Amino acid sequence: MTSRRQFLKYIPCTFVVTKYNAVLADNKNVINYKITAKKTSFSFKDNTSAELLLYNDTNPGPTLKGNVGDILRVNFTNNLDEPTSIHWHGIKNINKMDGVPYLTQDPIQPGETFVYEFPLNHSGTYWYHAHMDSWKQVAKGLYGPLVVSNSKENIFDDDLVILADDWRLNKNYEIDEKSFGSLMDWSHAGRIGNWLTINGKKSPEYQINKDGLTRLRFINASNARVLKFGSSLKKMKIIAVDGMSVKPFFQEVFTLAPGQRLDISVNLNDLSEVNFFEISQKKPLNAFVLKTIKSNQITNNKRPNFSSKYSFPSLENAKIIKIHMQGGAMGNLAKAEFEGVEKDFRTLATEDRKLWAFNKEIGSYDYLLGKVKTNEVVVFDLWNDTRWPHSMHLHGNHFFVKSNEFKGLNDYLLRDTYLMQPGEKSKFVVLADNPGKWLFHCHMLEHAASGMVGYLEVI
Ligand code: C2O
Ligand code: CU
Repeated sequence: MTSRRQFLKYIPCTFVVTKYNAVLADNKNVINYKITAKKTSFSFKDNTSAELLLYNDTNPGPTLKGNVGDILRVNFTNNLDEPTSIHWHGIKNINKMDGVPYLTQDPIQPGETFVYEFPLNHSGTYWYHAHMDSWKQVAKGLYGPLVVSNSKENIFDDDLVILADDWRLNKNYEIDEKSFGSLMDWSHAGRIGNWLTINGKKSPEYQINKDGLTRLRFINASNARVLKFGSSLKKMKIIAVDGMSVKPFFQEVFTLAPGQRLDISVNLNDLSEVNFFEISQKKPLNAFVLKTIKSNQITNNKRPNFSSKYSFPSLENAKIIKIHMQGGAMGNLAKAEFEGVEKDFRTLATEDRKLWAFNKEIGSYDYLLGKVKTNEVVVFDLWNDTRWPHSMHLHGNHFFVKSNEFKGLNDYLLRDTYLMQPGEKSKFVVLADNPGKWLFHCHMLEHAASGMVGYLEVI
């Protein structure tokens, strides 16, 4: 049974795919996936059951895999009782496949199918997640990993995704529904949880090859918690940040803000196990364990070839976009404009549930931050003039930023999500080489929902 509305919605999409296939997909490898979102019960702990929203009934959703040069085609069906969409976080996507409701596509209604199809141009660790009411849909489990490989980097004996989530559960180990939309959370750090999972499990254990080289791909899928990881190793070798290869560097611990990814390379040598901890709170949590098993199939002694085709651009003719971030609890936002009307902070908070602003404007999916030309160098001149950290994410285009969270690293890194500390001023040097309307927002999902969002248009 196809309603007229569904029918109409499906047409443009099919048309796009066909047209697109003709141009690009001819001699490319197409990787097909089928994903369905629906309500699913899930057990966080023995004999308990929580009602989650999941992709293909698993938490996390299936790990989508492809190689550079492939086309990813995801036939997505929404079997939820609410509209949704999928965003491919970190992918330099075709704009109409970016999954932002109202900005790049219509929301996908219950019962509808939408085909996402786009080329995988860059290797790295990415993830996908719901982008409709994401403060609720992501909190209930609508996300999964996306890994794009490149044969030059294929030197690992084991390659594991470590997707971390910070759930807020009630005492029955169900989603704490009552606190959704809490103004307290929204004006403070966001929805901070009380139950950490790694790939959907509490402190899982993974077996890896003895003497082998292991790649760990960390993803922070939490609504708001800035995770911090440490291990029983002296130092961890970081090889990629937000999906992009970096000249390897070592850290004892690292932070991972919502939306960010970080890859490390681990060589256990003569150790038989390594423990990883999440140390953002006073009491460290056991995150997961790697244990070695015997193997004689080690493909070692190859050196990775991590090179980036991007170099830091000249800023001579750069276009500057100033973004003054204000709002939240204990902040200095007295008034802001919301839907064309200037209101005081109290009214905004209590009547409109809006708490954060860019340049004294409450943002939304249709708030334009700036319009630039393709290949123009753009500098986001940001000032986090609030008492809270914010994990700032740009869709579709990457940016260079001095990543202050790494000890001793005084370098610009290319990334798509950067954690700004309270009071921090930072410049994001955006390589605006991908045309379209690209959302820029805080990945503390409650902050985005209450105003910390806008978009950059690349024409
Ligand atoms: Cu991962 Cu607009 O988000
Ligand atoms: Cu924020």
